[in-house]
Amino acid sequence: MNRAALVTCGLPYVNGPAHIAHLRTYVPADIFVRLLRKLGQEVVFICGSDTHGTPITVKAEAEGVTPLEIIKEYHKHFLEFFPRMGIRFTNYGSTDHPLNHSRTIQIMDDLRENGHVYANDLKLPYCPNCDRFLPDRYQKGTCPHCGASARGDECDQGCGRYLEPGELIDTRCGICSTKPEKRETRHYFLKLTTFEGFLTEYLQGLDGTEIARNYAKKWVEGGLKDWNITRNLDWGIKVPGEPGLVYYVWVDAPIGYIASTEEWAERTGGNWKYYWKGEGSLIHFIGPGIIYHHCLFWPSMLKGAGYNVPDAVIASGTMKVEGHVFSKSRGYVIWVEEDYLEKGLDPDALRYYIASYTGHNRDLDFAWHAYGEKVNKELVGTLGNFLYRTILFAHRNYQSVPEGKVDPMVMAEVENTIEKIRDGLDEYEFKKIADSIIGLAAYGNRYLQSGEPWKLTKTDPEKAAETIHNCLWLIKALAVLMEAIFPFKAKEVWRQLGTPKKDTLMSEALMPLDAGTPIAKPTPIFEQVSKETIAELSELVSKRIEEASG
Ligand code: 2FM
Ligand code: ZN
Repeated sequence: MNRAALVTCGLPYVNGPAHIAHLRTYVPADIFVRLLRKLGQEVVFICGSDTHGTPITVKAEAEGVTPLEIIKEYHKHFLEFFPRMGIRFTNYGSTDHPLNHSRTIQIMDDLRENGHVYANDLKLPYCPNCDRFLPDRYQKGTCPHCGASARGDECDQGCGRYLEPGELIDTRCGICSTKPEKRETRHYFLKLTTFEGFLTEYLQGLDGTEIARNYAKKWVEGGLKDWNITRNLDWGIKVPGEPGLVYYVWVDAPIGYIASTEEWAERTGGNWKYYWKGEGSLIHFIGPGIIYHHCLFWPSMLKGAGYNVPDAVIASGTMKVEGHVFSKSRGYVIWVEEDYLEKGLDPDALRYYIASYTGHNRDLDFAWHAYGEKVNKELVGTLGNFLYRTILFAHRNYQSVPEGKVDPMVMAEVENTIEKIRDGLDEYEFKKIADSIIGLAAYGNRYLQSGEPWKLTKTDPEKAAETIHNCLWLIKALAVLMEAIFPFKAKEVWRQLGTPKKDTLMSEALMPLDAGTPIAKPTPIFEQVSKETIAELSELVSKRIEEASG
C-alpha cells in the first residue's frame, strides 16, 4: 500500500470568479484523488483562497472597496463553486486564516534562525503622484529578458519569467502611468543561491510532469538569484517589527497549503505533521505559470525551515480559448458559473472535456464547437447510448437483472481497462483514463450489437438473458470507473441499476452483479447539445473578444 498522500491544487486568487483555466488544474487533480481513493489510498485533498498580494489590492482599489470585502466575496464564491463542479476538497482554507499568519511567521523565523534570510536596503520604484512604492502589479514596463510588456513581478505576456523587484525596465506606475522615481527601502531576502546544490539534486528525483522538472532544471542551470521575500504594502502578513512591510504573497500562499492542512487537522483531529514533517507524500497540481515558485522557491523554503519537500509537481500545459491563449482582459475566457453552469450545462461533460481533450503536458483548447462534438459523439453517442440501450432492453424484457454468467472476454476487457486507468494515473495522463472509459463503452456497444439479444429473446431466451446480464455487468463496471470523471452521472447510473452507491472501490468493478435487482425505465444519462446552443455560446465569446479589443 502506498503512503498516505496530501494532494494540493494551486490556490486561486480570490479577486474574481472561477474560469476555465482554473479547471485545467482542479479537474485533473480531483480525478486523480478520486482514483487514488478508489485504489484504497488515503488522501487529504487541500486547497484554499489566495487572499494577499497585489492581485487582491489592485482589484479592491479599482472597485473602491477594502481587500477584506473582495476576499470575502470571492472566497464564498469558490467555496460554493467547487462542489457544483464535483470538486471535493478535504479542506478549502484561506491564506488570511490566523493559522496561516502564524505558520508564515513561524517558518520565516525558522529560516532566519537557520541563516537563510538577510536584510538589504534597496532603491525601488516609487510613484510621486500616488505617493507609494510600486510593488508587483502596481508597476508596468518591459521585461528585461524578452522585451514584452510585463508587470512588476511577472512577464505575463512574454517569456513568463518571475521578475525580481527593480528588474522591470521602462517602468511606469500601473495606476496613473507616472514615471516612478527610486527610493530607498529595507527588504528581506531568501538566500536562494545557497540552495542551488540542493535543488539540482532534488529536481533529479522530483516526480510529476516533465514540463515542471525540465523548466525548473533549466532555470537552476541558468543560475539563481537571491529572492526578495517582502513588499511595501499594508495588506498581507506583516513582517514583525517592520511597519509598512508584508511578506510577498508567494511566501504565504504556498504556506497556505500547510495552514489549510492544519485547519483540517483542527476540525477532524487529523495529523497535519504526518504530511509536512513525517512519512506522508506531498503532491502539488499547478498551472504552467507557477512552476518556478513550486519547484524552486517552495522546496527551498521547506528544506531551509525543516519541513518535507514535495514528492511530485504535476504542472499542466497551458489553456486556450477558441484557439487563443487564455486571457481575461482580451476576452478569451469562459466564466464557468455564468457561461456554463448557469446555462444548465452538465458539469460532468466539462470535466470530461478537460480530461480527454489532450495530454496533461500539452495545450488544451476550449472551443464550443469541439465541446459540442465531444458531447454528442463520445458522451451521447458512445457512453450514453450503451447505458440507455442496455438498461431499456433489460427493463422492457426482464424488469430486473437477468441471470447469467460473466463472459471471460468481458471480464478481460474490464481488467484491461483498469490496467489502462492505473497506467494513466502513474503517468499523470488523464486523457488515457477518459479514453479507456469511452473505449469500454464502445466495446459494450459492439458486444450488444453482435449478441443481437432482440433476435434471441424468442429463439434462445437463455442466451439473450446472458448477453444482457453481461452488458449490465459492464455497466456496473463503468459506474465504478466513471465516478472519477463523472461523479454526478455515475450516481445516476448506479440508481438506474437499482443499487444507489457512491465512492466505490475499484475492486467493485469486478464483483458479480445481483440477478433479480429491479430495473426501472431509464432516461438517457447524457443530453445532446444542439447546434443552436453551440452557436449562441460561441457568439457570446466572440462578442466578449470584440468588446475587449475596444
Ligand atoms: O498564480 C496564482 O493564481 C496563485 N494564486 C497560485 C498560488 S499557489 C500556492 F502556492 F499557493
Ligand atoms: Zn502612480
